[in-house]
Amino acid sequence: MSVQIDHLLHESRRFPPSPEFAAASVATESLYEQAAEDRLGFWANQARELLHWHKPFTRTLDWTNPPFAKWFDDGELNVAYNCLDRHVLAGDGDRIALHWEGEPGDSRSISYAQLTSEVKRAANVLIGLGVQAGDRVAIYLPMIPEAVVAMLAVARIGAVHSVIFGGFSAESLRSRIDDAEAVVVITADGGYRKGRVTPLKPAVDAALASGDSSVRTVLVVERTGGDVEWNERDKWWHEELAAVSDEHEAQAFPAENPLFILYTSGTTGKPKGILHTSGGYLTQAAFTHKQVFDLKPEKDVYWCTADVGWITGHTYVVYGPLANGATQVLYEGTPDTPHPGRWWEIIEKYKVSILYTAPTAIRTFMKIGRQEPQKFDLTSLRLLGSVGEPINPEAWMWYREVIGNHVTPVVDTWWQTETGAIMVSALPGLTVVKPGAAQVAIPGISIDVLGEDGHHVGHGNGGLLVVTEPWPSMLRGIWGDPDRFIETYWEKWPDAPNGPLYFAGDGARLDREGDIWLLGRVDDVMNVSGHRLSTAEIESSLVAHPAVAEAAVVGAHDETTGQAVVAFVIIKFSQTDAVSHADISAVLRAHVTLQIGAIARPREIFIVSELPKTRSGKIMRRLLRDVAEGREIGDTTTLADTSIMQIITDGMR
Ligand code: WTA
Repeated sequence: MSVQIDHLLHESRRFPPSPEFAAASVATESLYEQAAEDRLGFWANQARELLHWHKPFTRTLDWTNPPFAKWFDDGELNVAYNCLDRHVLAGDGDRIALHWEGEPGDSRSISYAQLTSEVKRAANVLIGLGVQAGDRVAIYLPMIPEAVVAMLAVARIGAVHSVIFGGFSAESLRSRIDDAEAVVVITADGGYRKGRVTPLKPAVDAALASGDSSVRTVLVVERTGGDVEWNERDKWWHEELAAVSDEHEAQAFPAENPLFILYTSGTTGKPKGILHTSGGYLTQAAFTHKQVFDLKPEKDVYWCTADVGWITGHTYVVYGPLANGATQVLYEGTPDTPHPGRWWEIIEKYKVSILYTAPTAIRTFMKIGRQEPQKFDLTSLRLLGSVGEPINPEAWMWYREVIGNHVTPVVDTWWQTETGAIMVSALPGLTVVKPGAAQVAIPGISIDVLGEDGHHVGHGNGGLLVVTEPWPSMLRGIWGDPDRFIETYWEKWPDAPNGPLYFAGDGARLDREGDIWLLGRVDDVMNVSGHRLSTAEIESSLVAHPAVAEAAVVGAHDETTGQAVVAFVIIKFSQTDAVSHADISAVLRAHVTLQIGAIARPREIFIVSELPKTRSGKIMRRLLRDVAEGREIGDTTTLADTSIMQIITDGMR
C-alpha cells in the first residue's frame, strides 16, 4: 500500500489561501494557540459559544472510566432547539434553511420558521404515538425535507434515531430495527432516483412481515403518490401532522442523552450500531462546520451532497449546518439525472458557495469531461470540500481548477462514523494546502501516526492513524455491546503510557513537514464510493446462498469508486454442473443485493475451485487482491498449498 502512495509524498504543489480569502477567514491562528494551551478549556468555550444550554455545564470532560467518555455531562440542552428555535428567536426565522430540489425538478424552499413549525408538529405526532425519551425510531427515507424534519423531531423529544440508508435491503433494515428495538419506523412510499421511482414502503413491509417486531407504528410520507399496501400499523405522515398543533416547547435533556445510532460496517459480519450523544457531538459538529467551511451563515449557500443515511449527512447536512443557522441545498436524486450537468445546474440555480462531496463523484465527473460543468456558471463557489476516501492529487487538481475556477480552496477532511465530526483537515483561510493531503488535526484534536510497536513514526514515515485524546463528538459506544466497543477501537496498545488510544483502522503517513496523508484501511473494511463495506458481511451473505460452499471478498482498486467489491466463490459440488458460471455470478450478485443492498453488489464474481489459505486456515486476502487487481502474486510462503494460486489465476483466464 505504501508503495502506491510514495510518489504522492513528493508532491510539491502548494496553494496558500488568496489574500482576500485569508483576510475574511472565519478561523484565526489563535484557535490553534488556545487549543494547544488548554485543550479542555478550548472545547468548553466552543460549547458555550456555539450552543444554547438550558442548563450550563460545569464539568467539561469525565474520563475516569476510559474509553467511556462523558462531555459537559452536568449540562442540559435540546439539540433541535439549537438547530431551530433559537435562530427564529434571534430574528432569522425568514432565512432559508433548506433549498430542496427533487429529482424530477420539483423544489421547495423552507425557512427556519417553517422548518421549526414542521418539526414541532412531527414531535407532537411522535409523542401522540407514545414515543418517549430514549426510545428508538428508525428512519428510512429518501433525501426529502421530511428526512431532516423526522431526525430533528426525534431529537427534540429526547428519543434516539437510527437512520437507515434507503439503498439498504429489507433484510438489512430488519436487522437494524431489531438490534435497536425501534418502536416506530418513518418511511415514504418511495423516492426518485435515476429517473425512476424506488419503492421504500414495500421494503419496510417485507422487513416487518415475519415474526414479532418491536415496531408499533409505521409513518409513511407521501412522496411519489404510487400505490402502497396498507397495514393496521401504518399511518400517513401528512394526515398525522395536520391533526396536531405546531406548538411544542423544547425540553432540556442531559448532554449525554443519546442522540442517534448509526450502523456501520466493521470487520465482522454484523454491522456496529455506533452511538452518539448530544452536547459533545453538537459542539464539534457546529465547530467544524463553521471553521472548516469558513461559514458565513448570512450569505453562504452550502451544499453537502451526502445522503442523510450516512454520517456525513447526519453531521454536515443536518446537525452542523442547522446548528450554525446555515442556508443549504438538499438534493434528492443522482448527479446525472436527467442530464449529466444536473449538479452544476443546481449550483448555478441556488448560487451555491460551499460544496462538500466525495472523491468518487469528482472522478466520475472527470471521466464525463469538463465540458459539462463549463456549461454552467459556477462562479458562486468559494470553497470546496472532500470526504470519504483518499483524494488523489489529480482529482484534487481537477476539482480546484474545473469546478473551482483555478482559485477555490479545496479542503480534504478525514473523519469517520465513529469520530462523529471532522478530525483532520486544513482550515482554508489559514492552511497552505497540498493536493491529496488531509494535512493537520483540527484545533483541539490530538492525532498521531504510530508504528505497530506503538511508537510515533516520525516525519517521512508511515504507520497507523490514532487519536490520542478523547474528543467531544467521539462515539460513546456500540449499541448494546460495550465489549465490542473496547476490543474494536481501544485495545491495540493496551499498555499505552498516557491512557487508551483510539485506533481508527486507517493507515497514514506523515510527510517531511509532518502533514498527514491517508493511505486507506488496514483492516478488512472496504471503501466503495466512500461507503464502508465489510468483507465479512458480504462473505456471510454469499455463503448463505445454497449454491455456495465458500467465499472470499476483497476490495480491489477501482479508478472511479476507489475500491470495488470482488468475490471469489467456491460452488458446492452438487451445483457445479447445474448452471453456467455466468448464470451463477448473476444469481449471486442479485442475492447480495437482496440481502444487503445494491451498494454491496460485487463488481465481479470469480468462480474458483480453491481459496488460498494459510496453514492455520485463514484466507489470504492479500493474494486475492493481487489477483483481482491483475498484479503479480506477492509472497506466498505462508500459503498452505502454493499450487492454489496457479489454479485460481488459470481459472480466471
Ligand atoms: C475513509 C465517512 C481518506 C477512512 C466520513 C475512514 C477517508 C472511513 C477520508 C470512514 C479522507 C474518510 N481521506 N480516507 N478524507 N474520509 N475516509 O465511517 O478509511 O463512512 O476510516 O465516515 O472512510 O468512513 P465513514
